[in-house]
Amino acid sequence: MKLTYYITTPIYYVNDVPHIGHAYTTLACDVIARFKRLDEYEVFFLTGTDEHGQKVETAAKNNGVNPKEFVDKVSENFKKLLNYMNFSNDSFIRTTEDKHVKSCQKIWEKLLSNGNIYLDKYSGWYAVRDEAFFSESEIVDGKAPSGAPVEWVEEPSYFFNLSKWEQKLLEFYESNEDFISPKSRRNEVISFVKSGLKDLSISRTSFSWGVNVPNDKDHIMYVWLDALTNYLSACEYSNEENDEVFKKFWPADIHMVGKDIIRFHAVYWPAFLMAADLPLPKKIFAHGWWTNEGNKISKSLGNVIDPFQLVDKYGIDQIRYFLLREVPFGNDGDFSNSQLINRINSDLANSYGNLFQRVVSMIFKNCNETIPLKPNKFNKEDSTLINSIKNSLNDYRSLIDEQKFDQYLKNIWIVVSNANKYVDEQAPWALKKNNFERMEVVLFTLVETIRQISILLQPFIPDTAKKILDHIKIPYDQRKLKSVDLILSGNIKISLPNPLFPRI
Ligand code: MSP
Repeated sequence: MKLTYYITTPIYYVNDVPHIGHAYTTLACDVIARFKRLDEYEVFFLTGTDEHGQKVETAAKNNGVNPKEFVDKVSENFKKLLNYMNFSNDSFIRTTEDKHVKSCQKIWEKLLSNGNIYLDKYSGWYAVRDEAFFSESEIVDGKAPSGAPVEWVEEPSYFFNLSKWEQKLLEFYESNEDFISPKSRRNEVISFVKSGLKDLSISRTSFSWGVNVPNDKDHIMYVWLDALTNYLSACEYSNEENDEVFKKFWPADIHMVGKDIIRFHAVYWPAFLMAADLPLPKKIFAHGWWTNEGNKISKSLGNVIDPFQLVDKYGIDQIRYFLLREVPFGNDGDFSNSQLINRINSDLANSYGNLFQRVVSMIFKNCNETIPLKPNKFNKEDSTLINSIKNSLNDYRSLIDEQKFDQYLKNIWIVVSNANKYVDEQAPWALKKNNFERMEVVLFTLVETIRQISILLQPFIPDTAKKILDHIKIPYDQRKLKSVDLILSGNIKISLPNPLFPRI
């Protein structure tokens, strides 16, 4: 039986158009999902839209339409982004779907019957932009810690007994060191929990755009309980007839989130799950935030980065590569056009693109348009190059499991640069005159190296990797991770390639 892997993005609020932040989280998940598929896991890669709550209700009002009409329209923009960025999600959940509503009600009933919900009254601050409650002591200069405006709320509310789970959460973090990543976030969450947890308001009565609380028509569920439950709904938690999908994929292997929503995922979510007797996800990874040329990205500054425009201007693989190569995943990063252009020109066009271009052109011109047959003997330089990836497949696996995308790419580019050096040192154009056979060995070694590199690059730059593997006629069933251990047999007819990455 295949190993399974369940990976999720946050579900995106549909109050707004998709921006670079949304594209970034989903891209990271896409790379992991594609890598795991290459490594022959059965992957379930989930993304979707968060469609309830006060924020979305207000956005609909401001647009002069009813909330359902509004969310139907805006969630389409997020679906469009998936195509545009070449994302390979297996499912797309919307929180207005029936099966999700059922899941929310199912987990609610479970929490209730386990004695973890009680009715009381909430009075305190609420920030609609964050969809979060704040106590007096958390308010900074009349605002939420994020800078979002707050409003005073006083209403009847159901509460989840979060305080009861404080110790259990701390024990869980203690015995599952990798549950929260990176380390800095783990420390932040642990000290938040140690500072004391208060019970959490989990229903609202002052508006109606949400999931109804079972048996109490005055209340709708707090949007974060609703939203987090999407991870269960999508794998059929509410399907009473067939629990196979749920059993197969739950608990999730990783929830990928931005650093701003770590508390919801690493504190509230595991507490809800423990309280509902459900297994906990294996990992929560919180990535950093992008700024734009040194400035915080915000609508009011008018500097929001539009992923559609970026892709149109620079190309999809160029953007995918840049976002994951430029900044160590987990850190904040600055988006700079000049850096983007540098990376495209130097890493993609001059190094990898040029390696492919010159090697295939030399074969085309000198070897009768045919990749030479696999030689019987390689010298030390050939073997070193050919084995550099083969010998470190497990390192690449670990780098993906640790979400170190930049390091993964750096390692591959060391091989790209070694291959370019090898071309210069071996000088196949000179061998052509005095040692034709040796020239064939050199060119074979180079295509073989390009084959391996391109297999490993499929998750990051799928279109280009495919172009290359197609060009050298690698069959589809030999593009798996384990296929790196094979070797070309050669005698493959090839054509002259077009440049892969035009210089900018
Ligand atoms: N709906 C909630 C998530 C519910 S998950 C059960 C939500 N949605 S969101 O649309 O506001 O944000 C989604 C993601 O975008 C978050 O992970 C957030 O960190 C990310 N980003 C928003 N702006 C960003 C940057 N400037 N840079 C990087 N990521 C950013 O929160």
